[in-house]
Amino acid sequence: MCGITGYIGYREAYPIIINGLKRLEYRGYDSAGLVLYNNDEIKLVKTKGKVSDLEKKIQENTDTSGTIGFGHTRWATHGVPNDVNSHPHYSESENLVIIHNGIIENYDTIKKALIERGYTFKSDTDTEVLINLIEEIKKKHKVKLGKAVQLALNEVVGAYAITVFDKEKPDEFVVARLGSPIAIGIGEDNKEFFIASDASPFIEYTKNAIYLEDGEMAIIKRDREIRVRNIKDDALVKYDVLELKLSLDQIEKGGFDHFMLKEIYEQPKAITDTFRGRMLPNEGIIKMQGIDDHKQKFLNANRIIIVACGTSWHAGLVAEYLFEDIARIPVEVEYGSEFRYRNPIITENDVVIAISQSGETADTLAAVKMAKEKGAFVYGVCNVVGSSIARETNAGSYTHAGPEIGVASTKAFTTQITVLTLMALKLGLEKGSISKTEFHQYLIEMGLIPDKVENLLAIDDKVKEIASIYKDATNFLYLGRGFNFPVALEGALKLKEISYIHAEGYPAAEMKHGPIALIDENMPIVVIATKKGHYDKVVSNIQEIKSRNGKIIAVVTEGDTTVKEIADHVIEIPETEEALTPLLTTIPLQLLSYHIAVMLGRNVDQPRNLAKSVTVE
Ligand code: G6P
Repeated sequence: MCGITGYIGYREAYPIIINGLKRLEYRGYDSAGLVLYNNDEIKLVKTKGKVSDLEKKIQENTDTSGTIGFGHTRWATHGVPNDVNSHPHYSESENLVIIHNGIIENYDTIKKALIERGYTFKSDTDTEVLINLIEEIKKKHKVKLGKAVQLALNEVVGAYAITVFDKEKPDEFVVARLGSPIAIGIGEDNKEFFIASDASPFIEYTKNAIYLEDGEMAIIKRDREIRVRNIKDDALVKYDVLELKLSLDQIEKGGFDHFMLKEIYEQPKAITDTFRGRMLPNEGIIKMQGIDDHKQKFLNANRIIIVACGTSWHAGLVAEYLFEDIARIPVEVEYGSEFRYRNPIITENDVVIAISQSGETADTLAAVKMAKEKGAFVYGVCNVVGSSIARETNAGSYTHAGPEIGVASTKAFTTQITVLTLMALKLGLEKGSISKTEFHQYLIEMGLIPDKVENLLAIDDKVKEIASIYKDATNFLYLGRGFNFPVALEGALKLKEISYIHAEGYPAAEMKHGPIALIDENMPIVVIATKKGHYDKVVSNIQEIKSRNGKIIAVVTEGDTTVKEIADHVIEIPETEEALTPLLTTIPLQLLSYHIAVMLGRNVDQPRNLAKSVTVE
């Protein structure tokens, strides 16, 4: 949560920081602020609201010149979103300034001790406590900023990515990380440096970046090669400079009204990118290095435990059906937050798969660490290359979806399912639980999915029409069975997230055990009723809804005639293997929630209270 970005070099820092903050707004957007330093003066502006509000405030009366500065976009943890709690925060003397992404858990104890020493606090944040602790240590031990930051961080418990500036050392800032990401972009000849929560703010300036590891810090100075140190023991750390693959047009809207819509439409390409080079139908194989290198771990696994949060958890539920059906391996799917705190029984013969778009979700990351400690083999399915979960796991497969910026996850979900399907098929073939012919058939079908998604997107106008009919409903029900039960959950989540309409997903047969009581003529019910997935049973469920006058929006296989006669609206999807239907049935549900949200005037890409990357537990 929270985005941080900064610049030190020879260019004007302000445009770099403000544009960088706009790219990081997916990480939080309840307040924003920045600090610049020029002519012996610190200029600090912050406000409740979005980066655009900050920009307006700055335009009113701030001189933005200066070649060093940093900014923050916030997702509140400690202290309500208001101007005072926004970052950056000054220290008591106003000589030091900090921005922070994370949580200082023992802030209260430290705050009390600092109050006794005469410190006063303007905000309710844990961050202001940290900057005053740094100031106190600097004074007490008569040390420079870098040392003071290091000593202070050794006293705090929690998670952080921080950037700290000291008026006495105006040609540098200090960055540190534990649990929240920091990338450092390196300009040519070390003449300029960029820092950010991810590389998107500096992608047009440099492709060379260092990703700090947990427990590392760096003092960033102009014209000096970066030195990274271990926060605990001060030892110099050897680091790799990575070459970034990200391009600018990947992180821009490209003519679409919203990132979410762009990302929905990108799915044919994203799915292709996910299986490209892995699926080799002519050779009759799937190549996945992570599995090939650890094949025995998977083949001998007692069970697979999947850990994830949010939409990624739904992809995990689809994977449960995939792995059990195709590879005949028992699967449990766990929320990262529950798994990590309930002392689960994990053995060396368990394989844990962590699914995370961002690779930074705090609960999933903690679950990964715990599973590793308990001896399990941990495999990551992440989108963001070099992310914390990707690095923490023993092996893994990237989804290659490209940057996902809309807070509501779309292409990340379908590409996660693609990777998980490939994994299940590969293991199924190895184990002999599917035949070569079946395997081949799946590969052929998977190869056709991008085109089928592309064709399916043509239903957009029809979905929009349905959206206009039901946009004022206060409740929605989503029903599905088998592979499409998780899709029903995901459809409901999408609607809740971006339209703020209450929606529930249920296994269709469970409807009789409660939700049926909600059904009346005002209740729209989205039912996934594809041909092969327990079709007759779902048709019976649709009849039950009809008898109670519910409004039925059915997602059916092309050419269906039975459901057409009963349902109020029918959305057709192309035929495919049952196990692959989630890749298609998801699309109309994404579009439905998108159009309803737009019609209701919601902020589709930045829905209230949410953040794309939840780096706090
Ligand atoms: C947040 C996002 C969701 C996402 C979830 C898990 O809640 O808003 O879209 O599914 O985190 O994120 P991850 O990056 O681990 O997939």
